[in-house]
Amino acid sequence: MRKQVQSNEEGISMKRTLAFLFVVGCLVGCFLFETPHDTAAQSQKTQVSGFDGVMSKHAQQMMMENGRHIFRFDTFGDEAFWGDSLRLHQAIEGAKLGGVGPGLSPNAALALGLKVDVDALPQNVIQGLKNGTINLNDPAVTLALLRLNAVVGVTGFFNSNSQGTLRSIGIQCALCHSTVDNSLAPAIGQRLDGWANRDLNVGAIIAFAPNLQPLADLLGVDQATVRKVLLSWGPGKFDAELILDGKAFRPDGKSAATLIPPAFGLTGVNLHTWTGWGSIPYWNAFVANLEMHGQGTFFDPRLDNADQFPIASRNRFGHIHHKHDLITPKLAALHFYQLSLPAPAPPKGSFDPEVAARGRELFNGRARCSTCHVPPLYTEPGWNMHTGDEICIGNFQADRAPDHRYRTSPLNGLWTHQKGGFYHDGRFAALLDVVNHYDSCFSLGLSSEEKQDLVEFLKSLPAPTERSKSTDHKN
Ligand code: HEC
Ligand code: HEC
Repeated sequence: MRKQVQSNEEGISMKRTLAFLFVVGCLVGCFLFETPHDTAAQSQKTQVSGFDGVMSKHAQQMMMENGRHIFRFDTFGDEAFWGDSLRLHQAIEGAKLGGVGPGLSPNAALALGLKVDVDALPQNVIQGLKNGTINLNDPAVTLALLRLNAVVGVTGFFNSNSQGTLRSIGIQCALCHSTVDNSLAPAIGQRLDGWANRDLNVGAIIAFAPNLQPLADLLGVDQATVRKVLLSWGPGKFDAELILDGKAFRPDGKSAATLIPPAFGLTGVNLHTWTGWGSIPYWNAFVANLEMHGQGTFFDPRLDNADQFPIASRNRFGHIHHKHDLITPKLAALHFYQLSLPAPAPPKGSFDPEVAARGRELFNGRARCSTCHVPPLYTEPGWNMHTGDEICIGNFQADRAPDHRYRTSPLNGLWTHQKGGFYHDGRFAALLDVVNHYDSCFSLGLSSEEKQDLVEFLKSLPAPTERSKSTDHKN
């Protein structure tokens, strides 16, 4: 059964504000006035009393629900960049509706990998999509979807004039780190937060903006060059280091962009990103300020290293201050929400359990995988970093980060992000290619059957014994 979700954005924010005030009010009340003996009235409202009750409420409402809202809907004020400055909204709207160019039809948007949240659609729209009476080649329909807040990770800001044209546009974490379950149609379904959107062509979407001058100025090149770089990324990739070091291409001439990793299953993992930039809250602040161009505060003097980060040091990216900070107050709940996202279990029938069990023996034994990918985290407890040499790859991407190393990838939920390949740049198209790589790197001498066993094991993660039943995903 699908929830009917209110289509009116103001309605949503009003309800959220009220809910928020209620929670804050209650929490303050609980802290200040509640005593352990005061439980008669309270026990009717919550199952848990005393400070335990305060904690439960804090976790569920202040952290989980707030964090989910931030992850899905908060632009951190980045519409000042994507809309006001790059004017991306005008290209989406198209000349006929007051913008520029042909506009972005829903079909074109879906081809760029954007996803539609079915829970945000009213019944008549769902019906229209089912029986094909909605014209998916009309940019006006894209605007209607934006007005419903149904485009995952993208928020339209509308003028209050009668035509309801777009005023600006902003992006959210969910743009890259959520997808949908395709329950209504391909690319239209219920949200899957934390799943990497490997269909999303971030570069092509940014390149669609009429004004790339702000990026050109930053990188010290012309707009045509910026467009060329953006179009070199391809689906499922983004280059977070480009605006730090200006390196758009690897020494072999291929794009320097990296794959979008999942944002689930990260609980207990020390360092994050492919090259271990820092903790989750470190990276959240980094991305919200520097990549999404939200308005907040960010401190990292490592970016003052002019040799390694010429662009970042020149622009003082390690010293960002906005008077009206729209990011820092949200970091706690955002962090909490991400930690609550489990790595989803593989669908039944997607792997052979007997073969996977043999693979597990190899993984933890002769193939030596678990010396780095320590179960059940599948990364090292501690400093989970290695040089390129240790895993027989070049150090190009590692050298674009402060520690010059690669982070041991946590492997739970690997089955959800097979599109785009494996390792930071997707250099290995399939899991068997990864296993072949290790076989030669570590001279393991694995037979082809043993290699298949390992692949089957990788597809089975998270293992049933290492996850709670609640993460089982029906697919
Ligand atoms: C434009 C796409 C995009 C957006 C928007 C985005 N990310 Fe990411 N995210 C990436 C990419 C690409 C990486 C890998 C970066 C690297 O290793 O250099 C990443 C890495 C991460 C990681 C590390 C995951 C791991 O394996 O340890 C976390 C956590 C994360 N992002 C959270 C967020 C949050 C929270 C937001 C919103 C504030 C966000 N991201 C917005 C693309 C995006
Ligand atoms: C020396 C430590 C080390 C050992 C041993 C090791 N790995 Fe890795 N593994 C890494 C690192 C570091 C990465 C990240 C590489 C990158 O970012 O490009 C990685 C990445 C991976 C990935 C890609 C994950 C993704 O999201 O793309 C897979 C799959 C993998 N390893 C499986 C294995 C298997 C199977 C073995 C045993 C045959 C093994 N690893 C042994 C350190 C190790």
